[in-house]
Amino acid sequence: MDTQTRWLVVAAILLLGIHTVNGQQRARDMDHFITDLMAQMTIDEKIGQLNLVTAGEATTGAVVSTDVESKIKEGKIGGIFSMTSVPRIRAAQELAVNQSRLKIPIIFGLDVIHGYKTIFPIPLGLAASWDMDLIQETARIAAIEASADGLNWTFSPMVDISRDARWGRISEGSGEDTYLSSRIAEAMVHGYQGDDLAADNTLMACVKHFALYGAAEAGRDYNTTDMSLHRMYNEYLPPYKAAIDAGAGSVMTSFNDINGVPATANKWLMTEVLRQQWGFDGFVVTDYTAVNELIEHGLGDLQEVSARSLKAGVEMDMVGEGFLTTLRKSLDEGKVSEADIDRACRLVLEAKYKLGLFEDPFRYCDESRAKQLIQHPTHMAKAREAAAKSFVLLKNEQQLLPLKKQGTVALIGPLANTGSNMPGTWSVSADLENTPSLLEGMRAALGDRVNLVYHQGSNLVADAAYQERATMFGRTIPRDERPEAEVIAEALEVAKQADVVIAALGESSEMSGEASSRTDIGIPAVQQQLLSELLKTGKPVVLVLFTGRPLTLTWENEHVPAILNVWFGGTETGKAVADVLFGDVNPSGKLPATFPQHVGQLPLYYSHKNTGRPLADGQWFQKFRSNYLDVSNDPLYPFGYGLSYTTFTYGKLVLNTDTLERKGSLQVSVEVSNSGNYAGEEVVQLYIRDLVGSVTRPVKELKGFRKIQLAAGQSQRVVFDITEEDLKFYNADLEHVAEAGEFAVFVGTNSRDVQEARFFLKD
Ligand code: NOJ
Repeated sequence: MDTQTRWLVVAAILLLGIHTVNGQQRARDMDHFITDLMAQMTIDEKIGQLNLVTAGEATTGAVVSTDVESKIKEGKIGGIFSMTSVPRIRAAQELAVNQSRLKIPIIFGLDVIHGYKTIFPIPLGLAASWDMDLIQETARIAAIEASADGLNWTFSPMVDISRDARWGRISEGSGEDTYLSSRIAEAMVHGYQGDDLAADNTLMACVKHFALYGAAEAGRDYNTTDMSLHRMYNEYLPPYKAAIDAGAGSVMTSFNDINGVPATANKWLMTEVLRQQWGFDGFVVTDYTAVNELIEHGLGDLQEVSARSLKAGVEMDMVGEGFLTTLRKSLDEGKVSEADIDRACRLVLEAKYKLGLFEDPFRYCDESRAKQLIQHPTHMAKAREAAAKSFVLLKNEQQLLPLKKQGTVALIGPLANTGSNMPGTWSVSADLENTPSLLEGMRAALGDRVNLVYHQGSNLVADAAYQERATMFGRTIPRDERPEAEVIAEALEVAKQADVVIAALGESSEMSGEASSRTDIGIPAVQQQLLSELLKTGKPVVLVLFTGRPLTLTWENEHVPAILNVWFGGTETGKAVADVLFGDVNPSGKLPATFPQHVGQLPLYYSHKNTGRPLADGQWFQKFRSNYLDVSNDPLYPFGYGLSYTTFTYGKLVLNTDTLERKGSLQVSVEVSNSGNYAGEEVVQLYIRDLVGSVTRPVKELKGFRKIQLAAGQSQRVVFDITEEDLKFYNADLEHVAEAGEFAVFVGTNSRDVQEARFFLKD
């Protein structure tokens, strides 16, 4: 070490030391403050802190909280959610700090899931960008806007792994993969919370839904999960842990049953795993009425289940008021202890302290910030960029895309002119009235260089009652009650005038999200009919696909020359679609979840186990092997898949050594060249397989990726460092170990198209 480096190390150690001392001092100050405050609190006031209510209207569920004002004054409310705007929040906070006995401020939460007013793509779409900086920036902007409107807590990130596309809430998470979801969880927590929770432009994150909500049986929402510990620890729990390690201040319980004990009453999960094994020191809030739902789960009456949840390790009760109305009685009857209530109250108060609310309860209540910051042009520009980066090019026969900005383009389909559907599900604060539709956005982006003509083409689905269920919360799509054939015939007349047809089809935004599971995950039949008629015109047809989940697109993949999956891209969807279709942006998204050929293959995911009877290479059916009689095991589009307007060529995979020492590292590298005609971005993916283990290991697991940008003709060597850490897994005794032996490493453009090499981990 030279002198300069030595000084730098000394300075770094000193700074770290000061930081730790400051941190310890802050923790001591907080402790004293809260101990003093709690000494003045009655039991009822302590229980009041555990009560989370809505703003007195039903927004994200059916409950309408009553007497909110008087409860605030009586100290019976710790937090309010779904209240927005500075004047309303200020008024509620004034009641708390001026009219309640101990003047304890309220925490204000909201489902800020993928943006506040500037809406970014749905989380599954954002995940498809594989761009951690971008994802962090979107969370940062969401926090800036929401905190400018008075909020200080968001019910995000949602990090539930899901491998069953029937489940509607797959749209709200990062898809099927443990590693990718974990990196995204960290990025989002950092984006929301910044370095200082007490800053007036940060939000406290709430990791949800703890745990395993995405593994609901049969993809039916709220359904049971039953899972081995081995699978939990290796595949489903790491993203929650990653969010907690990144500093998330709160955790939300999930609705589901886990191996016989619903999460909200699950002491093993909330106390042993979360607190003791992971060291979580924030607070746990239930999901919406999740305590009350324990009655339906069959765990007892409201008093019983409230006591059980508190004792399991839950601190705050969302809208059910079971804690508020029964804990006192349970205390008197010895069913909970004062220590249980104190623990919960302290953790809620600590969160308020960390948010800086005791110092200044109105720190998030500056109206001028809301005016200045909400939908700031830089935020809107980021939304346009994020949308374009989330799109996945699934097919592009004969380079049909990008289109030229000329001639007449027909935009046809039920998703073409509905602004309210563009933000996508779980965008409760979106300004639906003022969100441009695809047609409007494309017109704004293209001006008069392209003559855009439009027709709705068909209904969303043939069945009016289904359409109503699929267009709730103001996400309207008008219905045409004429016979289908008549509507389609009219659309064909419009198509015939055009040089190119863009078919805007797929799901409405509310066909995914909460309580929006589907058994048939294809494009609805009436839209498919329209698509097939459009193809018969002989015009080139581009399918612009809206979806909140992987769909079965087997027919479309066979017949449509170009398919661009745009998920739900948020406020700037229309402009971003124009950017990509007309070549201003080269698509670079990669699927964060496998697209199956058939719904009957679900759950389908790339990181499966091998079984004792895998198929031989190149075979799709063999008797007495693990397969189906009617459909191959292959996905339609594998995890990590996505095309570009350019082509990327991979050189030979090189390992610097074939033996990895424990504590050492091994370099895997590959030269990637842009061998096509456009500048573009590529996500280079690294997967590993442990070939022999004490327990069975997946056939491939993502362990690294790099998103690189290459001009046409340019090359870059991409290097991955592999260490023992990357090879670790939870063994049968749930120890996190790397076992010596042979490993396969794969690098490629998606999880299927890879090159392979081998190495050994030494004992
Ligand atoms: C229920 C949902 O499951 C959860 O994700 C959400 O945060 C709450 N409702 C609050 O709206």
